[in-house]
Amino acid sequence: MSNNIETTKRAFFEELDHNKSIEELLRFKGAYLGKQGKISSLLAQIKEIKPEERGKYGQAVNQLKKEATAAFQKKKEQLETGKKNAAQVDLSMPGTGHPSGNLHPLTQTTEQVITIFKKLGFSVESGPEIESDFYNFEALNMPKHHPARDMQDTFFIDSNHVLRTHTSGIQIRTMEKQKPPIRIIAPGKVFRVDRDTTHSPVFHQIEGLMVDTDVNFKHLKFMLRTFIQELFGSDREVRFRPSFFPFTEPSAEMDVMSEQGQWMEILGCGMVDPNVFEAVGIDSDIYTGWAFGIGIERITMLKYGMTDIRPFFENDIRFLEQFI
Ligand code: DAH
Repeated sequence: MSNNIETTKRAFFEELDHNKSIEELLRFKGAYLGKQGKISSLLAQIKEIKPEERGKYGQAVNQLKKEATAAFQKKKEQLETGKKNAAQVDLSMPGTGHPSGNLHPLTQTTEQVITIFKKLGFSVESGPEIESDFYNFEALNMPKHHPARDMQDTFFIDSNHVLRTHTSGIQIRTMEKQKPPIRIIAPGKVFRVDRDTTHSPVFHQIEGLMVDTDVNFKHLKFMLRTFIQELFGSDREVRFRPSFFPFTEPSAEMDVMSEQGQWMEILGCGMVDPNVFEAVGIDSDIYTGWAFGIGIERITMLKYGMTDIRPFFENDIRFLEQFI
């Protein structure tokens, strides 16, 4: 007889979840807990039980009744709140959308610069961020103890290695393994002991180098002007100012006019110094070349009218989201 209780119990709980609406659930309740329901009729069967077992039997049926009533009540509440939620869906509301990421503004600028120079026939090279004294200084016509080294406040790793202070060392690495004609750019992170609103201890440069017979300063000016006009539009003004870099002679800096009407320095450049050619075994009687180093942060700030370099490195999502 107690088998009957077990079977009824199992059937009740199996069927309970099949009820998808309140109406169905109420019908189901009648079938089990109604006067003639399967659980109620278990009580009616008590007559058939041996008198000494009736107490236990009655208790078991009542227990089942209690459990079934509680489960029914819970299911009813679930169906009711589900109905309420469904009623609250306002189909005219805009969707919530899924936020998608985007490239960092400095990455975007780097990719644009690479695209422009690739169109001009340049290929892309790279080099290590921890650089030896030879590639970062020596081969670039900055011997040990030369005051020109002071131009770049350097993070030293040990007496012979530094965090590269510029991407110019990649010129040397390229000329060591490749004979002219050479036309390369080299983007990368660089490091200097410097920190204020327009300087960061880590920043980015793109180095450029062209070596061939009869390469001259006019080519350099043409290339750099073309580059800026591709990036900022054909009416953007640039100017070249004489400057000094140990690895180029003559040297210049190029400024671009900002939208606020101010000149902004964005790169250094010049004709490759014969001493640099000598360090890599290129005959400076046959070949000439020019080089440049562009500040990626500088041109990105110029592009967006920014006056502070720090937001690039703060990972504030509200800043970064503006560059989608
Ligand atoms: N390396 C220089 C710097 O970081 C930039 C530079 C100037 C690179 C002139 C060049 C160059 O290749 O020719 O300040």
